[in-house]
Amino acid sequence: MTAGLRGARTGRVLVVEPMSSGAALLAAAHDLGLETVVLSHDRDDRRLPDELRKDIDTLVVLDTNDEAALVEAAVEVAREQPLSGVLPGFEFYVPAAARVAARLGLPGLPVESVAAVRDKALMRRRVEAAGLRVPRYASLGSAAELDGAAAVVGYPCVLKPTDSAGSIHVSRADTPTELHAAYRRLSEDRRLDLGRRLDGRALLEEYLDGPEFSVEGYVAAGRVTVVAVTRKFLGPEPYFVELGHVTQADLAPAERRAVEEYVAAVVAALQVTVGPFHCELRLSGGEPVLIELGARLGGDRIPDLVEIATGVPLAHLAVAAHTGTDLRDVPSGAPRAKYAGIHFFTAPSRTPYGTVHGLDRLRARPEVLEVEVETAPGRPVPPAQDFRGRVGHVLYSTDSYAEALELRRTIDLGVTFE
Ligand SMILES: Nc1ncnc2c1ncn2[C@@H]1O[C@H](COP(=O)(O)OP(=O)(O)OP(=O)(O)O)[C@@H](O)[C@H]1O
Ligand SMILES: [Mg+2]
Repeated sequence: MTAGLRGARTGRVLVVEPMSSGAALLAAAHDLGLETVVLSHDRDDRRLPDELRKDIDTLVVLDTNDEAALVEAAVEVAREQPLSGVLPGFEFYVPAAARVAARLGLPGLPVESVAAVRDKALMRRRVEAAGLRVPRYASLGSAAELDGAAAVVGYPCVLKPTDSAGSIHVSRADTPTELHAAYRRLSEDRRLDLGRRLDGRALLEEYLDGPEFSVEGYVAAGRVTVVAVTRKFLGPEPYFVELGHVTQADLAPAERRAVEEYVAAVVAALQVTVGPFHCELRLSGGEPVLIELGARLGGDRIPDLVEIATGVPLAHLAVAAHTGTDLRDVPSGAPRAKYAGIHFFTAPSRTPYGTVHGLDRLRARPEVLEVEVETAPGRPVPPAQDFRGRVGHVLYSTDSYAEALELRRTIDLGVTFE
């Protein structure tokens, strides 16, 4: 989206498994005059999309879940020709990218503390130790520990895997029966996500009541910059399927300040010393409380929403921060609209569905920028319990927050699956 500095390439950047928003790092690197090297498994659910291949100058295929092999491959790449930076293309590869950066003397997260941005129990402990509010929590590794954990946390509570993503097996429990059933579903699920299986380790947390937000920003030259605060909309509990986002959120100035200060303190507590961050929190009793922080770009096209609503290109800034590029060399554009949003479709109780109605009418609306249905008619639709239950999306921009909310309602009523 951003006008670039194309010309002779003057460095090369390594990206590990670019997917979701991480895919945008490659075009951003090209814009900044950098060559791209990608390490990827390039098969199954880690297969690179064909449209991404034009942004890859060198591809090294290996099992990226084998971290020792990954680090060795990256060192070999750098031996052939030096690298200017290394970035994780997805949440799971944040620790590996940090270890590669440390081995090669490149900007990266401190190896000693990087586990805390992947392990949610460790994350809670670090943030709590810094004197910041977090939900009450307890770690567990088996069904026998559930009642003890619930005695610490109380009901209602939220059960989640310690280091997964995409809201997989994150659910609310109001009673011991619901809690045991939720843990059974989690521990019996043998499905792989990017080649990884859940291992039964989980976190039980106090249920935080209140609106949810994500905060996008980056750290460069020791400075934390918050770029945007996004309001998140969720599906019906006990699950927490993200059904939409609107950037910027409608926070009062004092709330926005409190959120920014809290997030800057979380970033410091977790020693996120360089690169992008995506912090999820709820305002509970009016106070910000951490859900989690990822040391990466937010998913769900949030960087695109941020660029539409602020002009700030987060993927470019991420590459710049990780390559030590002067941020003044990253061109920011003007905002294209005051607010930008994304809305996800689910097709509840229609699996598979035969037809979808209302998309053409939606496409004709001036606010609508993009409409896509990813799960085709006739294909099985997973239950709307995590990100896999979303069958498509609408991207839009509006002049006011109220119009964004109104459009969400229009989409909900106007698009039907049968
Ligand atoms: N303690 C809590 N209280 C209330 N809601 C919670 C709590 N923990 C998690 N949630 C809800 O569940 C969602 C997913 O939780 P979390 O972010 O920890 O898991 P995840 O698998 O990393 O999700 P994702 O990758 O989709 O962000 C949160 O965005 C929030 O809506
Ligand atoms: Mg999350």
